[in-house]
Amino acid sequence: MQTLQSPTSLSTASVSIDRDDWLSGYRSQTQEFTYWIDQIEGQIPLDLEGVLFRNGPGLLDVQGHPVSHPFDGDGMISAIAFRGGRAHYCNRFVRTQAYVAEQKAGKPLYRGVFGTQKPGGLLANAFDIKLKNIANTHVIYWGGKLLALWEAAEPHRLDPNTLETLGVDYLDGVLKPGGAFSAHPRIDPGWACPDSPDREGGPAQPRLVNFSVKPGLSSTITLYELDSTGQLVHQHSHAIPGFAFLHDFALTPNYCVFFQNPVSFNPLPYALGLKGAAECLQFNPNQPTRIIVIPRDGKRPVQILETQPCFVFHHANAFEHDGKVYVDSVCYRSFPSLEDAKNYREVDFSKVPEGQLWQFTLDLTAKTVESECVVSRCCEFPTLHPDHVGRPYRYLYIAATHASTGNAPLQALLKVDGLTGEQQLWSVAPRGFMGEPIFVPRPNGTEEDDGWLLILLYNAERRCSDLTILDARNIEKGPIARLLLNHHVPYGLHGSFTPNYFGPAEEL
Ligand code: CO
Repeated sequence: MQTLQSPTSLSTASVSIDRDDWLSGYRSQTQEFTYWIDQIEGQIPLDLEGVLFRNGPGLLDVQGHPVSHPFDGDGMISAIAFRGGRAHYCNRFVRTQAYVAEQKAGKPLYRGVFGTQKPGGLLANAFDIKLKNIANTHVIYWGGKLLALWEAAEPHRLDPNTLETLGVDYLDGVLKPGGAFSAHPRIDPGWACPDSPDREGGPAQPRLVNFSVKPGLSSTITLYELDSTGQLVHQHSHAIPGFAFLHDFALTPNYCVFFQNPVSFNPLPYALGLKGAAECLQFNPNQPTRIIVIPRDGKRPVQILETQPCFVFHHANAFEHDGKVYVDSVCYRSFPSLEDAKNYREVDFSKVPEGQLWQFTLDLTAKTVESECVVSRCCEFPTLHPDHVGRPYRYLYIAATHASTGNAPLQALLKVDGLTGEQQLWSVAPRGFMGEPIFVPRPNGTEEDDGWLLILLYNAERRCSDLTILDARNIEKGPIARLLLNHHVPYGLHGSFTPNYFGPAEEL
């Protein structure tokens, strides 16, 4: 959002959702497939070439033992390869050490961070604090490696052609055993930004920037910058006061920005085997959210600003303009509590705070923060043109609820024009359920919205998933192609697109 115009809000009445429809997207997918997609409505663009990789929990149970929360489900990667107007689908579970062991044992052997317990009650779970690296949150192709990510542990490397698991990857020695690499790397597109006056305006070449957190009474954030060959360019660590639950961060040419949500962690119920670690987080509504601004050069001091109490999982983007830093984030009034994590199937949406898009304006000289709500409709999973990551931008795409107020499953896609304040909405309610949109620029396109949005939707009518392609210039027209998969893919988390083609050379 370059300069904010007062946003127009699209009003849509709520729609009644069949709960079985919604829950049917939470069935385990135990099978692994590889096939050319032959049920296609519309036309796949001939110049769309590359692979959409997507990660998410593939199993909602371990051989009949249900997980307490979808975030505890084993990571399963889907790869949809596009070339010449055709598409090929493949999915594989990440063969983590825990996945292999549990499938062999036929029962859970690990406790999940989100409350899944081993069979056997308290005695089996007390004082067992070993983490299950479930590799289920994101998947990226960078430096010649396909990596499945989970924020509290090392990445798993996969073969981009077959999705075969090659093993835990230490990024050529950047990470040490037991180290972490967050599930939310940002790719700096690598062009000088004239709006960033105090440095060169960003690196000249693309870079992958990521972090890890070592939590404790004070928390240590380590930042990594890798060049396009995967070589480490920069690494520096900073201790910040207090416990920090950091899922994501935002990037500008000069800064990495973190939101330290006002949550505290009581480890006792976790250690005693009563709760999962994430269930022990408590939101403190009287404490400010702290905004941690770390200079990317690692030389200048870290600055900490304060804003109203809120909870942020995901940032949409950040940029520098007129000597200020702007951060656009999906904000919740409070932590969407996991107290009822064991009953995620019975969740009462009216009791869960909705995520809304806010813009925060940081004045690093005056140490002040202003904030404004940009999208009040419940929304999550923001995306934008990759060339505008960390730079001023005009268009944001985000999954949203069908209704303009209240919380509900995400069933629509919203396009926000930060220049005019206009919004476009495309809804798949009542029987479609939205996934994260991924923006893919059209080769040789010049406009910021000249590209496609790829979305893996769950279609409850078919009890299967659809890969949907929209023209980002006008999402109200609906899809230009719908690729009907032969099966469902459970509701997922994050994915990415690479213009490198990995897929079968010829029809199988
Ligand atoms: Co995330």
